[in-house]
Order: sequence, then structure tokens, then C-alpha cells
Amino acid sequence: MKTLVVYTSQTGFTKRYAQWIAERMSADILDLKDAQKKDDSSFAGYEAIVYAGWLMAGKVVKVNWFFEKAKGWKDKHLALVAVGGSPNDNPDVETALKDMLTEEQSAYIKAFYCQGGFNYEKMNLPSKLAMKAFVSTLKKSKDEKQREVGSYIDHSYDVSDIKFIEPVVAYLQGNVVA
Ligand SMILES: Cc1cc2nc3c(=O)[nH]c(=O)nc-3n(C[C@H](O)[C@H](O)[C@H](O)COP(=O)(O)O)c2cc1C
Repeated sequence: MKTLVVYTSQTGFTKRYAQWIAERMSADILDLKDAQKKDDSSFAGYEAIVYAGWLMAGKVVKVNWFFEKAKGWKDKHLALVAVGGSPNDNPDVETALKDMLTEEQSAYIKAFYCQGGFNYEKMNLPSKLAMKAFVSTLKKSKDEKQREVGSYIDHSYDVSDIKFIEPVVAYLQGNVVA
């Protein structure tokens, strides 16, 4: 299956997942910035296209580019891969996945989540400030669970693993994914 992986990544986790998927699928890979420079005919030869982006406040960064293009790609296998700091089994992940696609989009795009982590050293200043404010709010919460999350995400960590690409690969290869 001739596959293209397009990604956007700030601190490297999404890029790593995009590379793992591309290697496994022998796919071409493009940073979104380069994909945006291409005209529509450049995508015509692909049977499968993956868009991988990191999660910011429950939304996949720059996903609108993919959604717009996907309207003309309904004959292809389309996968949306969200990479975030939450572990895969976090209930917020299920909610984020559910809200990621409209019912109409769900008919031709399949959404996945891969746990990444946080890398404060590579984060830009606006992201660092946003996270600082968020962590501080969580740590002041009356809810113990929220305070625990605050402590969990107040430092860099890496929970990415190549095994999380398996459902994406199975889908791209045409196997049924629950
Ligand atoms: C401002 C901000 C908001 C974030 N919001 C979420 C979120 O809603 N859910 C989540 O799981 N991770 C969230 N994250 C964590 C990133 O998605 C995570 O660090 C991801 O691995 C970054 O990917 P990258 O290395 O490709 O940039 C947020 C990070 C920042 C900086």
C-alpha cells in the first residue's frame, strides 16, 4: 500500500511515531510545513495517508489542513494519529478520540492515540507558560486525582513505545480494527 505520513511535532514525540509508522509501512514522510507547499497532484498516487499531530488542550494541532484535504481523499485509507502526554488508558483519551472526528468524517477517517510524553527542554515559551499555568491550577485543585495529574505532568517524561503503532499499521494494511 503506497503510504504517506504527514506530521507536525514540537518536541519530537510525534515525529518519532511518524517515523516508526513510515519505516514499518515503507512510506514517504513529510513535515506538514513541506506538505503544505505541495499541490494536490502530489498526493494523488497514495493509497493511504496518515496525519500525525500532537494534542494541545484536547485538539490535534493543525488538523484542519488534513480535514480539508481529506474531503478529496475519501477513496484512500486515512488515519489520524494524535500524540499526547496522557497514558493510553487515561479516560480523557477516549473522550478526545470520540470528539476528534464528526460522524461524517468517521466514515472515511480512523482516529488513533499514541502516548508520547512531555519534553519541557524542547518546548517553546508559549507552551511552557501554558503548561505552567495548567499545572499550577491542577496542583491547587480540591480533587486529589487532579493534584496527582499536576504532579505527573510537571516534569519531562517519555512513555512513547513503538508498540502503540500496531493498531495504526493493522488499519493501514486493511485489517479490521475494533
Ligand atoms: C499547551 C499544551 C497543551 C497540551 N494538551 C494536551 C492534552 O490535551 N492532552 C494530552 O494528552 N497532551 C497534551 N499536551 C502534551 C503534548 O501533546 C505532548 O507533550 C506531546 O507528546 C507533544 O508532542 P511533540 O513532541 O510531537 O510536540 C499538551 C502540551 C502542551 C504544551
